[in-house]
Amino acid sequence: MNTIKGCIFDLDGVIVDTAKYHYLAWKKLAQELEINFSIADNERLKGISRIESLEILLSHGNISFDHNTKLKLAEKKNTLYVDYISKINKSEVLPGIETFIKSLKEQNLKIALGSSSKNANLILKKIDMLEFFDSVIDGNKISKTKPNPEIFLLCAKEIGLRPENCMVFEDSEAGLIAAKRAGMYAVGIGRPDILKSAHIVINGFHSTSLSKLLQHEN
Ligand code: BG6
Ligand code: MG
Repeated sequence: MNTIKGCIFDLDGVIVDTAKYHYLAWKKLAQELEINFSIADNERLKGISRIESLEILLSHGNISFDHNTKLKLAEKKNTLYVDYISKINKSEVLPGIETFIKSLKEQNLKIALGSSSKNANLILKKIDMLEFFDSVIDGNKISKTKPNPEIFLLCAKEIGLRPENCMVFEDSEAGLIAAKRAGMYAVGIGRPDILKSAHIVINGFHSTSLSKLLQHEN
């Protein structure tokens, strides 16, 4: 563990409070399709791609559509989502994350973003955090989404590190499984009863430091 040389961050629900907007957009679409969809159901949609999320929502509602209709529905959800995030700014950055990333940079760690979202660059610009990252891998750059480890392996490659030297921060089970499959140390952000695949779970970054996380492991 003392060999951690880089940290890879998920975006939605780890850096910025956008997970709630994904939920609200899916909820609106679900209402239009007359599907019951709760915040607990939404947990399964975290970390995975837009189209896979739609598939889960439709199977939850026992509805099937042809491919073109599915593409249109996914686009509709994205329009709703982009409308929600059009107004976001630094105030929705989660507490402590900027200070934490700055401290990692002072310790010369590499910083990467590993997000399934195709809106990641847009959000990083809106919250003025793009320059923190040595590499940004988003939903446009991968062929398989979490829990496949591809995204995190690509992050490690781009920052020039071996997987075992990377620590991943994730708020989704899919992402934590991906991190572990990549051979990385997986830190869950949220609740231990939900994030069962994490090596450790913290409830936020307000009182976290790399040395505290390393102590946990030792
Ligand atoms: C992930 C979210 O970060 O990105 C998922 O946790 C979302 O909920 C996925 O479906 C894809 O996002 P987007 O912005 O490309 O629809
Ligand atoms: Mg997330």
